[in-house]
This record gives sequence, structure tokens and C-alpha cells, in this order.
Amino acid sequence: MASTLGTLFRISTFGESHGAAVGVIVDGCPPRLPISVEEIQFELDRRRPGQSKITTQRKESDQVEILSGVLDGLTLGTPIAMVVRNQDQRSRDYDEMKDKYRPSHADFAYDQKYGIRAWSGGGRASARETIGRVAAGAIAKKLLASVGVEVIAYVETVQSIRAEIDTNAVTVDQVEANIVRCPAPEKAEEMLELIESIRKDGNSVGGVIGCVARGVPAGWGEPVFDKLEADLAKAVMSLPACKGFEIGSGFGGTLLTGREHNDEYFATNKHVTTPTNRSGGIQGGISNGMPITLRAAFKPTATIMSEQHTVTTEHENTTLKGRGRHDPCVLPRAVPMVEAMVALVLVDHMLRQSAIQVS
Ligand SMILES: Cc1cc2nc3c(=O)[nH]c(=O)nc-3n(C[C@H](O)[C@H](O)[C@H](O)COP(=O)(O)O)c2cc1C
Repeated sequence: MASTLGTLFRISTFGESHGAAVGVIVDGCPPRLPISVEEIQFELDRRRPGQSKITTQRKESDQVEILSGVLDGLTLGTPIAMVVRNQDQRSRDYDEMKDKYRPSHADFAYDQKYGIRAWSGGGRASARETIGRVAAGAIAKKLLASVGVEVIAYVETVQSIRAEIDTNAVTVDQVEANIVRCPAPEKAEEMLELIESIRKDGNSVGGVIGCVARGVPAGWGEPVFDKLEADLAKAVMSLPACKGFEIGSGFGGTLLTGREHNDEYFATNKHVTTPTNRSGGIQGGISNGMPITLRAAFKPTATIMSEQHTVTTEHENTTLKGRGRHDPCVLPRAVPMVEAMVALVLVDHMLRQSAIQVS
């Protein structure tokens, strides 16, 4: 089950970076949902390599083919299979990595686990695996939109450059207005300069992606092991290079007292809200009707064009300098991936909640 996520809305991804194709099977999507290839392609284009000067220059058009489960623009209720053929494999860039492990990449750990590894392009540890997630996420977003839920992610920090983003007001257009995907234009410019100078120096940087889901009604989630924030954490942290997760006030909340931190309830015409939202829209594992707010930390890209110590597959000391085409900062391309993972978890819990309604 290592490649499957979800209870009622289930996705299974497949494919290696330099194999024939990558893709996904979506099972449990309700019938008669209008969905077009263009809507799925829109999300894949936001994830695509080569989209700007600060992403990997691997040339992939990432054109999606829907193989099953959709007829005349409507879902059939049957498994939806989607595939993207790999085009620009350059395995020779990885020749040295066949016998040497990239520091902080998955090469060593995969060999310890399986005793075999698709060394070219990082195999399944490559961010190409997320194509299936983003394609499935486009369908999940469409389903969520039909009940008034929208999921928006954005770059909040790159290294120590931080943008203050209003989660109640941020729009997709603001996020897509620059290649960093930071909706604060001045900060985006600073981030861009930093990423470009880091790339020229053969180095990499990380940062934080913020995400908000607006319109989620109170009552989605589960009370114990499948708490909504637990499922969100698992899904988001399953993204490559993700090293931290916060919901609502997160670690910052530890600096406040209970009096400062509590979200007080108020009712307006019997409608309950909390003017503050330090809970991030989830209490007891269940949504409370406020926007769901979360943050995900992404580390600096492992493969860098600088020589570092490592070991060979024979466990001899050596050095390695990265080659090939890599993202100097994974954040801009990770934005649609975070949105997809959040949408997939929310749609699963939406269906789970409708399954327990008797009237
Ligand atoms: C959008 C995105 C792009 C990435 N691009 C690269 C890359 O070009 N080079 C690289 O070494 N790692 C890249 N990664 C990260 C690796 O896939 C990841 O670090 C590796 O699989 C090890 O897993 P871990 O960092 O989660 O432990 C990328 C991750 C994301 C989310």
C-alpha cells in the first residue's frame, strides 16, 4: 500500500523518473463530475519542470492522457487512470550516481531497503512521482469547488526572507503573478534574487509553503487516528523534501499563554465563528468551519553542483559533485503539490462525512 493514499477517494501513483511514464489511478471519485483534460493540464503546467529560469531545465511537456473513467467530460464513477509519458530522460547525467550516493537524497536509503534502485533520475524518489498526485488533486479540487471549498498554497518564506500573507484574502491569481509563487510582489523579487544567486553558486535553498482551505464546513475529519490534521500532515509530509508541518499557530503557539492562544467563540444569528484562528480550522481532529491553515517546510535541494563527501555503493569514502538539471529551490514547483495533497485529504473526508449522514 506504500503508493496508495485515501479511504473513500483513493489514489495510487506509479512510475519512475526515467521510466516510460508516470501516472495515477483514482478510485472512488463520484460519477457525473464535469472534468476536462484542460483543467488537469492547468495544474500539471504549474508543476512542470522548465517552466521558468529558477526551476530545473528538464524539458517535459507533461501532457496528460486520461485512459479511463471519464466519458464526454463527465466522470463515470469507475477508476480514472491518467498517464504522462516521460520524454527528456538524460540518464548519462546520473552515471556517477549509479555507484555513489547523493548526500541527503534517497539513493543510500533505497539501496538499504530494496537492494536495487532505479538510479537514473532518482527513480521513484524523484519529484516526477508527484505528477500523479497533482493530476488526481485537480479532480479533488473540482469536487471541492462544487461544495464551495477552495485550496490555495503559496511560498511564504525562502530561507530567511518572509512574506506576510493574509490567508483570508490571498488569491490564485496573486500566487501565479510571479515565478516564485509568493503573493507579496516585493518579497517575491527578493526571493527571486536569492534563488538566482544560489543557483549560480552551485548551491540550493529551502523555505516554507503556506496553504489555506476556505469554505470547509464544520464536521469534516475523524476524532482519533484519522484526525484531519494528522491526515493532512501525513499527506503533505509525504511530498519529497518536506521536513516540517504546522497546523494553525503550530510551533509559534507554544510562545503564547492559553489566554492569548484560545480562539473564543461568538455567535451571530446562531452562526458560530472564532475571530481568531490559532486552531487552524481544526479542533479535536474535526473541522470547525474556520479556514484550515497550515505550513510545510521544504529543505534545500539535495543535488547541488558543489563537491561534497559521500560513499560508494561499496561503502568506500569518495566525493561527488552533482550533475544534470535540478531545482535550486523546490518551493515554487511544490506549491501545486501541496494544494493537491490538501485537496485529496479534504475530499476524502468530505466523502467520509457524507457517508455517515442519514438524512
Ligand atoms: C518540486 C520538487 C522538486 C525537486 N527537485 C529536486 C531536484 O531537482 N534535485 C534533487 O536532488 N531533489 C529534488 N527534490 C527533492 C527530492 O526528490 C528529495 O529530497 C529526495 O527524494 C529525498 O527525499 P527527502 O528529502 O524527502 O528525504 C525535489 C522536490 C520537490 C518537491
